[in-house]
Amino acid sequence: MTMMKLFLIIIGVLIIVSGAIGALHMYRVSVRNRTEMAPYTVASTAYDGHLGKVLVIYYSLTEHTAAIAQEIARQTQGDLFRIQTQKTINRYPWFYLTLKRQLDMKNYPTIATEFPDISTYDTIFVGAPVWWYTVATPMLSFLNQFDFKGKTIVPFSTQGSNAGTFFADFERKARQANLKQGASFNNMGSEYDGAVRNKITHWLNQI
Ligand SMILES: Cc1cc2nc3c(=O)[nH]c(=O)nc-3n(C[C@H](O)[C@H](O)[C@H](O)COP(=O)(O)O)c2cc1C
Repeated sequence: MTMMKLFLIIIGVLIIVSGAIGALHMYRVSVRNRTEMAPYTVASTAYDGHLGKVLVIYYSLTEHTAAIAQEIARQTQGDLFRIQTQKTINRYPWFYLTLKRQLDMKNYPTIATEFPDISTYDTIFVGAPVWWYTVATPMLSFLNQFDFKGKTIVPFSTQGSNAGTFFADFERKARQANLKQGASFNNMGSEYDGAVRNKITHWLNQI
């Protein structure tokens, strides 16, 4: 067998093995999602309004967190505040690695938006994507600068399947706040839209 042939066989085997691992992971996540969302296929009791005046602060790169933030605001009749970075985060093929490096170096992006006036709100939801098992860097940047002292804060995350240490890391950054039970949302297909809405209602009533 020529070296070339051996090389091609090794590459082929690697592709098949990594494809199989990927497919198994996707299958396990889909089973987990189905189990987690099963209780929410039935409509929850409507949100009872006990959280008072609500603000939803969020960062979102690819709109998953934005969708959850909008649904929280819709149900609570709250206001929305989107965190924007000064520089656009370009999604070129290796951007995952660039963002990992920025996380490791604690090199967080500059926030472009003026900070919100939170004084008139009773409850503030704060949401971000999970990046490399923790809070996305634009939200870390925001949390490093923003003072939530004495305010009631409810964190939420969106992620593919694994929130890692998101909530523990968030709590460490928002120490001065009165932190309430957060919620975590895996990205799911549109067949789960109703269940996600019910999950949010259920969570709102529990806070
Ligand atoms: C740099 C980067 C790292 C990520 N790391 C994780 C992770 O550790 N765990 C996970 O489940 N999903 C991870 N994801 C997927 C995102 O958390 C998920 O798609 C999220 O819902 C994106 O939110 P957005 O659409 O609001 O930006 C990562 C995405 C990016 C871009």
